[in-house]
Amino acid sequence: MKSILLRKKLIEDALARSGEKDGLRRTLGTGNLVALGIGAIIGTGIFVLTGTAAANYAGPALTISFVISALGCLFAGLCYAEFASMIPVAGSAYAYSYSTLGEFIAWFIGWDLILEYLFAAGTVAVGWSGYVVSLFDSIGLHIPTSIAHSPVGYTVQEGFYLTGSVLNFPAMFIVALMSVLLVLGIKQSATLNNLIVLIKVVVILLFIGFGIAYISTDNWVPYIPAETSPGHFGWSGILRGAGVIFFAYIGFDAVSTAAQEAKNPQKDMPKGILYSLLICTVLYVVVTAVLTGIVHYSELDHPAPIAYAIDKVGGALQWLSPLIKIGAIAGLSSVVLVMMLGQSRIFYSMSKDGLLPRFFSGVHKTYGTPYKSTILTGFASALIAGILPINILGELVSIGTLMAFVIVCVSIIVLRKTNPGINRPFRTPLVPLVPILGAGICLIQMLYLPWDTWLRLIVWMFIGFIIYFTYGIKHSKLNNK
Ligand code: ALA
Repeated sequence: MKSILLRKKLIEDALARSGEKDGLRRTLGTGNLVALGIGAIIGTGIFVLTGTAAANYAGPALTISFVISALGCLFAGLCYAEFASMIPVAGSAYAYSYSTLGEFIAWFIGWDLILEYLFAAGTVAVGWSGYVVSLFDSIGLHIPTSIAHSPVGYTVQEGFYLTGSVLNFPAMFIVALMSVLLVLGIKQSATLNNLIVLIKVVVILLFIGFGIAYISTDNWVPYIPAETSPGHFGWSGILRGAGVIFFAYIGFDAVSTAAQEAKNPQKDMPKGILYSLLICTVLYVVVTAVLTGIVHYSELDHPAPIAYAIDKVGGALQWLSPLIKIGAIAGLSSVVLVMMLGQSRIFYSMSKDGLLPRFFSGVHKTYGTPYKSTILTGFASALIAGILPINILGELVSIGTLMAFVIVCVSIIVLRKTNPGINRPFRTPLVPLVPILGAGICLIQMLYLPWDTWLRLIVWMFIGFIIYFTYGIKHSKLNNK
């Protein structure tokens, strides 16, 4: 049994797979990769969750949460970069671990990545919906809450409750639209992505540049509000805030999925990951400072907090409001697209390896896209986006991804011992210190997330084990080798 769980795919096989579909050309330089990273990173985290997290967990000290979370990502990112440069194929951590750590860990990470991408697409779609409603409102078209809000709400005190809404239709709409684009094969070209990234970053810079004048430093006092209960304000709130807004950094790992298209993956990939992370961290910290400076944190539990802050200033900044909303809508669309793209490709890889049924790797004859897994991903994401509230979704994605990062960090230490000879074009510096810090910071953020988020994670992983032991283990392609 042990040998089955630890069986590995040959690195040559993994690299050969990448050769098969290699219509992909090596065209992306560092600049494109950084843009790709920022395109996948900046989204609901900054445009939506900042408000919820400041209002409920950390207050103005959410800036500190952002820095803590960034440090975890930085260390984990350095480990990711070693992994990605070692085996520069599409398929992300799932593919790397299959060749190095064995089938069971690969399944574990793959199933975890499904949680990340599938639920992240849903979360970002809910954020998109909030900004669309807000934009329509500002031009006098009111979309009733009953068709633009999740039917289910959740608070720790009350548990789940019905909100009276039917479904979040706009959120389902954007998922459906992106699914159609993905099936048709309109790949997010680097140029289109660069344009969207530019819009996102310009909008954020405008908010910072013009918002700064409206900061009232009174709103920053006290900077760390006194703890009301564990996880709510004080240092425990800062740490819980870090776990929640960790969501805002998710996506830098998506850079690694473009390894096959990078001109010089060994050098450019680590740069792409680290630079995009750095730029986003600076933007996030400054936006949070400005946001909590303009509006008191207690008012920020709002589906479109940045737009809310601008509307609150009113008068002189009114012109900025529609721009912010349009920028957020464009920016969030691209994140939904990237998340769904990642998800369908992971289904595809797992199915090619025999761990999921062949259905998932069906490729469309005309469009050449994995349309079946894309449509399935679309259905699942649309359902998730239509029904569940954003706080539940965001926390679940955060905990799942944090766990994947912990495994990646630990794996780097393990692999240096078990496979010292593999060619490592990029080496994580200061091993084992950096991986230990990465795993440690990610673990702390996990520990401070609400316990019911853990419960959901455990249920998800349990379902994964059942699928693996009843299906994957029997159908794995490695059985024939
Ligand atoms: N980091 C991405 C976002 O915040 C997933 O939307």
